Amino acid sequence: MKRYAVILAAGQGTRMKSKLYKVLHPILGRPMIQYVIEALAPSKIEKLVTIVGHGAEEVSKVVGSKSEFVIQEEQLGTAHAVIQAKETLSKEEGTTIVVCGDTPLITDATYEQLFDYHEKTGSKATVLTTKIDNPLGYGRVIRNESGNVSRIVEHKDANEEELSVNEINTGTYCFDNQALFEALEKVDNDNAQGEYYLPDVIEILKKENEKISAYLMPDQEESIGINDRVALAEAEVIMKRRINKMHLRNGVTITDIDHTYIGPDVEIESDVTIYPGTIIKGNSSIKSDAVIGPNSEITNCRIGNASVIRQSVVSDSKIGNQVNVGPFANIRPETEVGNDVKVGNFVELKKTSLGDHTKVSHLTYLGDAEVGENVNIGCGSITVNYDGVKKHVTKIESNAFIGCNTNLLAPVTIKEGAYVAAGSTINKDVPKESLAIARARQENKEGYVNRIIKKN
Ligand code: UD1
Ligand code: CA
Repeated sequence: MKRYAVILAAGQGTRMKSKLYKVLHPILGRPMIQYVIEALAPSKIEKLVTIVGHGAEEVSKVVGSKSEFVIQEEQLGTAHAVIQAKETLSKEEGTTIVVCGDTPLITDATYEQLFDYHEKTGSKATVLTTKIDNPLGYGRVIRNESGNVSRIVEHKDANEEELSVNEINTGTYCFDNQALFEALEKVDNDNAQGEYYLPDVIEILKKENEKISAYLMPDQEESIGINDRVALAEAEVIMKRRINKMHLRNGVTITDIDHTYIGPDVEIESDVTIYPGTIIKGNSSIKSDAVIGPNSEITNCRIGNASVIRQSVVSDSKIGNQVNVGPFANIRPETEVGNDVKVGNFVELKKTSLGDHTKVSHLTYLGDAEVGENVNIGCGSITVNYDGVKKHVTKIESNAFIGCNTNLLAPVTIKEGAYVAAGSTINKDVPKESLAIARARQENKEGYVNRIIKKN
C-alpha cells in the first residue's frame, strides 16, 4: 500500500515564548522537525507534505527538498491544518500518516509499527496512543465497554472522569487517505478552544461504523509533545541518553552519560573515550582511540586516531592522528592540523595549517598561517595577520624554529630551516637556514644602581 505523510508545523508555539518557531527549536543542535522527518524516512513515504504557517519560510528552508509545503494562512486547528493538504493528497489511495512537528522523540521503529498495525487490521484510522503518569494537557483516549476507541477528548473539553484517563493521544495517526479527507469536511469547531480538532475524525468515522484502532506504544517517553521549554528540556535529556547509549553499545567509553552532549549526526569509532562536560556537535567524526574532554566543545570537526583534546574548543577544523590539544586551546574554523602535532595551553589557531610533528606548545596566536612540518613555535609567538584593513598570510616553512615572544608581521615568510631569535619583530622574509634577530641590543650600565638611584 502506498504511504503518504502530513507533518503539522504551522503553529506559532506561543507557550515556547520565543522568537524562534516552535518546530525549529533545536534538540542537541538539530531542529526538532528534522527528527520527525528522519524518523519517517525508513517508512518509504511516497509524498510528504509539511503544513507551514508561522515562520513558513524559515521552516521550509530548514526542511528543504525532503518535503512539499502547504501554507495554512490562519491556524484554526489541527483538522484545518490537514485540510490544507487536500489538493496535494486527496486523490491518492493508500495510507496517510499525520504527525505533529512537535513530537520529535517518536522513533522510526514506532512509525513503522503503527503503519504495519494499521494496514494489517484494515482500519480506516489508527491512533498512536500511550499511557503516561501525568496526562496534563494531552487529548485523552476514550474507549467503549468493549475496549475499542470511540473518541478522543481534548484536555480543555474533558469532564472529571475523562481527565482521570491516562491513555493519551500522541498526535500521530494513520488514516485511509480517502476516508480522512471525507471525514475532515465534517469536523466542526464547537469546543472549548473554538478550533477544528483533527482527533474528532476518529469519532466521526466511528459513528459511520468504520473500523478504528489504537496502537498503544509501550515507551511513554517517545510521546512528549514539546509545547513549552520544560518539555524541550525533558526531550533534550531523553535524546541525549538515547544517543549516548547508542555510542556506548558501539564501543565508545562515556564516563558520565548525563554530562556528555553528542549531536545526532556525530560519528564516533570504537575505543574513543569521552570525559564529562564535553559537547560534540554538527557533522563531527572522531576516530578510534581518541580521548575527548573533560570540558571540551567540538563542532563540525574531524578528529584523528588517538588524538587527545582536553579542556578545549575546536570548531570547523580537521585534526590529524596522535595530536595533543590543550588544555585550554581554542582552534577556530578552517584550521588543519597534521599528525603528531602539539597544540598546547592558551594557543589560538585560526585558518591555519600545521604540518606533521610541529609543536606550538604555549601562549601563541597563529591566524592565516601556513606552517610546515617539524616546526617549533616558541611560547608567546604571534602572527600579526591584520593591518586594520586586510588579513595577511604568514608562511613558516618546514624545520623552522621560532623563538619565544616573536611577532611575525604578515605578509611574511620564514623559509625552510630558518631560525628566528626570541623577542624579534619580523617584517622581512627570513632566508633558508639563516638566523633572524630583530630586537634592540642589550646595554648594561654598570654601577647605575649605586650611582643614580640609591643616592636620591
Ligand atoms: C494535540 C492534540 C492532542 C494530543 C497532542 C499530542 C489536537 C486538537 N490535539 O494537542 O489530542 O494529545 O497534540 O502532542 O490535535 N498546528 C498547525 N495548525 C493549527 C494548529 C496546530 O499546524 O492550526 C500544528 C502545531 O504547529 C503543532 C501540532 O499541530 O506542531 C499540534 O498542535 P498543538 O497546538 O501543539 O496541539 P496540542 O495542544 O499539543
Ligand atoms: Ca503539541
